[in-house]
Amino acid sequence: MSEPIPYLDLRAQMKPLRAELDAAIARTLDNCSFCLGPDVVQFEKDFAKFCGAQHCVAFNSGTSALHIALLLLGVGPGDEVITTPFTFVATSWAISYVGAKPVYVDIDDATFNLDPKLIEKAITPKTKAIMPVHLYGQPFDVGAILEICRQHKLPLVEDAAQAHGAKFQGKVIGTFGEISCFSFYPGKNLGAAGEGGALVTNNADFAKRARALREHGSTVRYYHDEIGYNYRMEGIQGAVLGVKLPHLEKWTQARRRVAHRYHQLLQDTPLQLPLEASFAESAYHLFVVRHPRRDDLKAHLDANGVGCALHYPLPLHLQKCYASLGYQAGDFPISEKAGRECLSLPIYPELTDPQLERVAAVVKDFFSK
Ligand SMILES: Cc1ncc(COP(=O)(O)O)c(C=O)c1O
Repeated sequence: MSEPIPYLDLRAQMKPLRAELDAAIARTLDNCSFCLGPDVVQFEKDFAKFCGAQHCVAFNSGTSALHIALLLLGVGPGDEVITTPFTFVATSWAISYVGAKPVYVDIDDATFNLDPKLIEKAITPKTKAIMPVHLYGQPFDVGAILEICRQHKLPLVEDAAQAHGAKFQGKVIGTFGEISCFSFYPGKNLGAAGEGGALVTNNADFAKRARALREHGSTVRYYHDEIGYNYRMEGIQGAVLGVKLPHLEKWTQARRRVAHRYHQLLQDTPLQLPLEASFAESAYHLFVVRHPRRDDLKAHLDANGVGCALHYPLPLHLQKCYASLGYQAGDFPISEKAGRECLSLPIYPELTDPQLERVAAVVKDFFSK
């Protein structure tokens, strides 16, 4: 059998950057700036610029950034936040952490993103924010959702954990809502050497308070103005992200090229391929195809040494941890069907033509039988 093709190959990205990364990490070891420090400060400046935002506040994870975003907006117990059930669970964690209730709205069948047409029905006097996800790297319908936010005077929080550098109508995402949150988990389009996250905003007061909240609620050491958190980004992560950020645009284009090749190679198969909305330029964090025989296809890929993954098999309204919300199977049929049918194929900037051609050949082989 040929060489297996991993679903994700982080080593391939590390190799060419290794000397630079070693030097950046050594610098942190030398200057002993382990929590925040100069490399984190520099990264915040550079990432804000990349997003076209005035402020970036770095955290120890994307989940922490989302949590702080909702605190900044004053969301708390008894409040509701409208969001998607078809995402990684951390989107909803942030809502739960502030004591509010996730109110789910189903997704659009073609893009997997929150369906703007269904949002208004879910708005109640308790709704305090709308928090959609740019899922798999594809911007949600920012225009339609911002219009709903304006009409109902609700803030928009963008969960951009999977969408660094994605564009809506030609503009990099990050500043459409009041706050946007990113993850730098190693497998993300911009990944740290460990955990990391950030929020970006054009609101100076939010940025100032976010900096205090991530550092035990203090701006002056050992004086605590409000209850805070230990959500600081580590110095080493700032150093690593600083090395990687200049490559992000090139990596995004490489991901888009892989996606384009997959589209060419798989167009004649019975798979439903990812649809890029007319307003969107996806960062292709994932390349997710759909088919009712997804489980059989996955078994075939596994057996032939092609890595693949499920994002996400069980929507959040059906997760055990959210049973108390009272949702039932059938409440969000599009999300439930997507959970049964979606399959993520390997996609990363370093995926070679022969590799992606083999992925396509193994997929085609499945349908030829
Ligand atoms: C959509 C989404 N939201 C939030 C998160 C949470 O980010 P982190 O893992 O950095 O806490 C992730 C990634 O893990 C994600 O994919």
